[in-house]
Amino acid sequence: MTVTVVETAELTKVYGETIAVDKLNLKIGEGEVFGFLGPNGAGKTTTILMLLGLTEPTYGEARISGYNTTFEPLNVKRITGYLPENVGFYNDLTARENLRYITRLNSMRRQEATGKIDEALKSVGLMEVADKEVGKFSKGMKQRLGIADVLVKDPKLVILDEPTTGIDPAGVSHVLDVIIGMARNHGITVLLSSHLLNQVQKICDRVGIIAKGKLVAEGSIEKLNTELFTKGQNAVEVQVTELTDGLMNLLRSIVGVTGIDVTGNSLSIFSDRDVKKEVSKAIVESGSLPIQIKTRDYALEEIYMKYFSED
Ligand SMILES: Nc1ncnc2c1ncn2[C@@H]1O[C@H](COP(=O)(O)OP(=O)(O)OP(=O)(O)O)[C@@H](O)[C@H]1O
Ligand SMILES: [Mg+2]
Repeated sequence: MTVTVVETAELTKVYGETIAVDKLNLKIGEGEVFGFLGPNGAGKTTTILMLLGLTEPTYGEARISGYNTTFEPLNVKRITGYLPENVGFYNDLTARENLRYITRLNSMRRQEATGKIDEALKSVGLMEVADKEVGKFSKGMKQRLGIADVLVKDPKLVILDEPTTGIDPAGVSHVLDVIIGMARNHGITVLLSSHLLNQVQKICDRVGIIAKGKLVAEGSIEKLNTELFTKGQNAVEVQVTELTDGLMNLLRSIVGVTGIDVTGNSLSIFSDRDVKKEVSKAIVESGSLPIQIKTRDYALEEIYMKYFSED
């Protein structure tokens, strides 16, 4: 990892009897897109509020670019952009006027603001409708304007809470493109909380899964896949020209194979490690040929279900 932007150490929040966030240790690097996943009540929003310095941790600490979020909240605020689930804009003002209003609130100089506003509107693809009233915008356009609003500040870190909820597929893909663009073109670190796993899978470099305040899994999608493999969840799906007893015996003798399902000439070979090569070799040795062979990829959805169903 390069420069660390977000770091939490044993970050904990207790509300009465509820441990909302339980000793969370997170590290997110510069320019990384991090997906923060978890079911309702898992502790995502509480974590985000502590990262923003809006709620004090009960125990542990959070740092943004080295600034302690409890003791240096102004420094944190200066470098962090936050997009809540429902962004509020003035509907009777245009997109540009709304952004102008924000820059005034942030006491940005007019000339500097003009350049920043244009740049932000361009980044999110709203230049053409910059002078249209926001009341006429779709939800997806409003979310993109929300991202423009955050970009105007030139943040180092952007935190988005469910940025694609309630947006149609075309709008979602546009919003996601804009989010990736923030990271890739501006080097911004992005923390994105979501339930929409398919989407997160597409754009996140890394994900963290939180359940009951605890981080239960963390890493790249590939790493989470590998963890599943080591738990005996690996499956090779193969179709062969000819299924013989000889082949079945060869397959069963491969080290790590834990089970084989047969349907016609199609086999699912389960193992606790990657056995794709040995499977190919066995098929050819038996005198048969593989028509199709693939390692089953666990979509994030499956990974997510797995971590939540294991209680
Ligand atoms: N201000 C509060 N006072 C008391 N309990 C709270 C407060 N805020 C959150 N909680 C509790 O802390 C836990 C974590 O809530 P949090 O809002 O962080 O979850 P979440 O992951 O954001 O959920 P969701 O997906 O529903 O937004 C829940 O049990 C919630 O009821
Ligand atoms: Mg929440």
